[in-house]
Parts: sequence; C-alpha cells; structure tokens
Amino acid sequence: MYNIVVLASGSGSNFEAIVKQTRLYFTDITVSMLITDKKNAFAIKRSEYLGIPYTLLPKHRRFRVLDEIIDTIKPHLIVLAGFMRIIPRWFVEEHFGKIVNIHPSLLPSFPGMHAIRQAYDYGVRVTGITIHFVDSGVDTGPIIFQYPLMVNPEWDIEKLEEYIHRLEHRFYTPVINGLLHCPYEIRGRKVIFTDNRGDACDIFRVERGEHIP
Ligand code: GAR
Repeated sequence: MYNIVVLASGSGSNFEAIVKQTRLYFTDITVSMLITDKKNAFAIKRSEYLGIPYTLLPKHRRFRVLDEIIDTIKPHLIVLAGFMRIIPRWFVEEHFGKIVNIHPSLLPSFPGMHAIRQAYDYGVRVTGITIHFVDSGVDTGPIIFQYPLMVNPEWDIEKLEEYIHRLEHRFYTPVINGLLHCPYEIRGRKVIFTDNRGDACDIFRVERGEHIP
C-alpha cells in the first residue's frame, strides 16, 4: 500500500481526479490528506464530499507545520496540484525526489502562475502539460512526463483551459502510480525509468495512453 498527500491552493480539480482515479483504478494508493494554504480553497469542499481529511496550513511557520505533518504521515509522495507557493530550499532538500508538481504548459515555456493565459496570448500552436520533481526554483525541477496539445488558433481561452485540464486529469494519477511502482533514477535533469518490463511499471503504458482500463 502507498499513501500520498495532495497540496492544493485553489479549485482542486486535480486533487479530485487523483482521489477518484486511485479509488477506481489504482487501489493500492490512498490519498491520506489534502493540505491547503487557502481557507477559501474550493479544494476543501471537494475534500469534504470525498471524505478525505484536510489541513489548512497557518500563515506563520507554514512549511515547518507542513514538515511536521509529513513526518507524521510519512507519505510516499508529496503531490502538488495547483499549490501556488514557492517551496523553500530547506524543505526541497529534505524531501527532494518525493515532491512532484503538475504544470499547465510544456516547460520550460511559460513557468509561473499564469501559464495557460500566457501560452494563449503568445499564440503558440503547441502547448501541453508537464509533470516534474520540485526543486527550489519556479517550475524548474527534473521532468518526469510531458504531453503535448495542438492548439487551434480559433479556440478561446476557456476552450484551451478545458483541454489542458482534461490532459492533467487524464495523466497525473497514472504518472503518480508509475512513480510509486517503477524503479527510477534522477540523473541531473533527467528522470530515467530503469525497468520497463512487467505490468507493475505503468509509466510506459501511460505514454501510450493505455493507463486506465
Ligand atoms: C492546474 O492547471 C495546475 O497545472 C496549475 O494550477 C491548476 C490547478 O487547478 N498549476 C500551476 O500553474 C503551477 N505553476 P486545480 O486546482 O483545478 O487542480
């Protein structure tokens, strides 16, 4: 059995997708807690109707409190899903290789908080999603997974957002599952999966889009 915690500051749609998909398809993974830094985050409402406990981080000593929670729960992964805070260096160093983040662009294009809007305004014809380990920069850590999206220039921003979120919801949980089940090494900026044999190692099926039965 594996347990993970999810950190979210806003709507929490990725959090909900992770909870639902682990319950349906990846049943050896439990989301033990939602952790948020925003008392009005809609993610809290989702945690209530999904029956997942949540913790609201205090404004002061935020990351010390988070560290204590992590020490108590000892999750296999700390999953950021729209957690809009820069993680301090000491916390990253203590947990490096265990913190993953999802970002709504093909990094290194459009890091930061407004990636979809910036990609849209720029007029890119290809964008996508990135799942990466967290380092102490803003959306700069080693890349685990990316998936592209061809952009129709006639779409409005809402359409682009909808398609990006669909990709996020489709891929985040299977990639988390792959990280938990597959041996891998982080070599500099590269994340190398060292064993692609066997069903237990789902990350390669993820890339072929075969991850959900
Ligand atoms: C997601 O699109 C996620 O990629 C983005 O915040 C959104 C959260 O949505 N994260 C970043 O931009 C991180 N730099 P959600 O709360 O509905 O899951």
